[in-house]
Amino acid sequence: MDIELNKFSNEFELSPTLAANEAVLRFKAQGKSIIHMGFGQAPFPVPDRIKNALCDHAHNNKYLQALGLEELRNTILHYYKALVSIDPDKYQVIIAPGSKLVLYGLQMAVKGDLLMPVPSWVSYAPQARMIGTEVIKVPTNLNDAGYHIDASQLKETIISAREKGLNPTKIILNYPSNPTGLTIGDNELKEIAEICIEENIFIISDEIYGLVSFDGEYRSILKYAPDNTVISSGLSKHLSLGGWRFGFGIIPKSINGLTDMMQNIASETWSCVPSPVQYAVIEAYKGNEDIERYIKDCCDIHCFINQYIAKGLSDLGVICPLPQGGFYNYPNFLPYKDKLSNIDIKTSQQLSKYLLEEYGLVSLAGTAFGADPQILTLRLSGCDYNGEKVLNAYRSGKDLNEQFIIDHAPNIKEAICIFERFIANLSR
Ligand SMILES: Cc1ncc(COP(=O)(O)O)c(C=O)c1O
Repeated sequence: MDIELNKFSNEFELSPTLAANEAVLRFKAQGKSIIHMGFGQAPFPVPDRIKNALCDHAHNNKYLQALGLEELRNTILHYYKALVSIDPDKYQVIIAPGSKLVLYGLQMAVKGDLLMPVPSWVSYAPQARMIGTEVIKVPTNLNDAGYHIDASQLKETIISAREKGLNPTKIILNYPSNPTGLTIGDNELKEIAEICIEENIFIISDEIYGLVSFDGEYRSILKYAPDNTVISSGLSKHLSLGGWRFGFGIIPKSINGLTDMMQNIASETWSCVPSPVQYAVIEAYKGNEDIERYIKDCCDIHCFINQYIAKGLSDLGVICPLPQGGFYNYPNFLPYKDKLSNIDIKTSQQLSKYLLEEYGLVSLAGTAFGADPQILTLRLSGCDYNGEKVLNAYRSGKDLNEQFIIDHAPNIKEAICIFERFIANLSR
């Protein structure tokens, strides 16, 4: 049957992360071994308390209100009161099937074009285009001290976009960041907040990795722009519950009409997040000691494994700042530009494809995150290990050291060996 598709759909391919996952399944079906650094899936098992709570609430078969279960929304507000000192009376929470839909709903609700720091997570730009808005790229700097957005450069970007007839009204910030594993320091968040307030820019603060922060500090720009910021988060990262599809937004009551608009979007699309999940998730935000311990243990493991990868790459001469949170590295192969060019690798996509085809290592090219093709960056996620075994080993008192990686996360060791071989072959 021939049908006319909406124009925007031609621009979309399968999300690059899902496409990488499909390449892995194809390789595995052919019996080839793969090191999977393409898909950022937190690998740990569901905490018992939350699993049991889900079973206990399996009988809840009724729709819930579109904003979400009131007890859960209040519990989340109080958890965030402790984390970022918000005044619970000044905010409202909306529950959504994953924070991806919170981000999409917010982009849809707020008119105007999106300011997007580059590199940024794969879905922000496609979401902006799906609702017919423009993406205005904001430059960043990456180094061991973090992910930097220069406030004066941000202001210049806003002004020059306006001069070009664009209408920048919103920015998405993500820290710790996917793809870089780096975070934005408090001083810089404050400066960015000041510019956003001055220029009337709405801030979407994607804090999905906020509880996977290696120094244990929870950062939020909401502290510095309490009336301009919506926090978006969920359970996919720090509680390894991506498949539960649970996210939420914390919305200031002072932004007129925004909660109502989000409620309308929810009621006309997803209706509500499954009731048993909402009841179970209350346990995740009560501050239970076992859950907080789980979050800390998983964070320690993410920190060790991803910093191990960064050190391995830095030792090989690749530019790779030490990650500060999440489970990613974003190495830049610029020092090998000439040698790569000798084997016809001139873009990050070519580099990623070469590593997959020659070494069975799956990565994502920097282009997926908005980087120019000639910038030789890759996103490597450090999750290719059995989370249950690794967590048990760590909890049984095993030290996090090289031997731990060899014994419990051999694919991570193998990834570094692959890069060693790759760089050695390049230098031949
Ligand atoms: C930066 C970032 N934001 C948002 C999401 C969406 O997460 P979810 O929809 O599972 O809450 C992800 C998931 O990979 C992410 O990496």
